[in-house]
Amino acid sequence: MSTAVAQRDRVVLTEVAKTYDTATGATVALSPTDLVIELGEFVSIVGPSGCGKTTLLQLLGGFLAPTSGALLVGEDRIDGPSPDRGVVFQAPTLYPWLSVRGNIEFGPRCRGVDKRTRRAESDRLLDLVGLGDVGAKRPYELSGGMQQRAQIARVLANDPRIILMDEPFGALDQLTRERLQVELLRLWRQAGKTVVFVTHSVEEAVFLSTRVLVMSARPGRIIVDRRIDLPGDDADRVRDLRVTATPEFQAVKSELAQAIYDAHR
Ligand SMILES: Nc1ncnc2c1ncn2[C@@H]1O[C@H](COP(=O)(O)OP(=O)(O)OP(=O)(O)O)[C@@H](O)[C@H]1O
Ligand SMILES: [Mg+2]
Repeated sequence: MSTAVAQRDRVVLTEVAKTYDTATGATVALSPTDLVIELGEFVSIVGPSGCGKTTLLQLLGGFLAPTSGALLVGEDRIDGPSPDRGVVFQAPTLYPWLSVRGNIEFGPRCRGVDKRTRRAESDRLLDLVGLGDVGAKRPYELSGGMQQRAQIARVLANDPRIILMDEPFGALDQLTRERLQVELLRLWRQAGKTVVFVTHSVEEAVFLSTRVLVMSARPGRIIVDRRIDLPGDDADRVRDLRVTATPEFQAVKSELAQAIYDAHR
């Protein structure tokens, strides 16, 4: 990959802070934060509830404006949502008037992708997230976990260069969660995407990521920035769940769990 391409998709935050002004007073959600995320990184963000993880993700998505500081992707300032940055929200946000398949095909339809191609892609994605038999249903006919999977498929259908995910697997059963974790890793690896992933699970963060950020309690700031190297990473294949049994995995997991525990104080 050329340096120019890598730089085009580099995410750079400079002194980014966010304060919410509400009727009951101001809430400082994010302290001034500097952060550089390179193209192709898989960065997880963990930290106590209310520490500003969703705030940070919404800033990256362009759904919120910072109170101060600047966010750039390459040369471009983030000043609103973009199809290049796909967001999987903490609570599913599907279009209620469209079927599950209609939701998945919404982005491609807006881009003018022809019907046959759209259909083939939505078939593939429905299958990937295990919703092959409910494509014709409306979102309200689905369970919470199914809606979440439909939301993931809808984001993937847009083929964004940067994927922002806010606890996307939190509501899923263990087996589905593990399947989607491995699929996400495969997709990230094959397509050379950047992923920023918020989770409460240290285990999930370590398993998925090339880098884990730990945030302090509110007002959030990044207190640990840890690179994750696991056995087999250099073998140029997607990690599989067996790595979670290795001493290296357990060591980094307990180190980060301790950091999060300390962050609560
Ligand atoms: N729209 C808003 N208006 C006012 N305050 C907000 C708003 N959104 C978030 N906050 C406050 O900002 C702080 C950070 O919230 P945020 O949702 O970013 O936390 P979080 O780390 O994602 O938490 P969780 O792990 O529970 O999802 C909290 O104190 C919250 O009350
Ligand atoms: Mg949140």
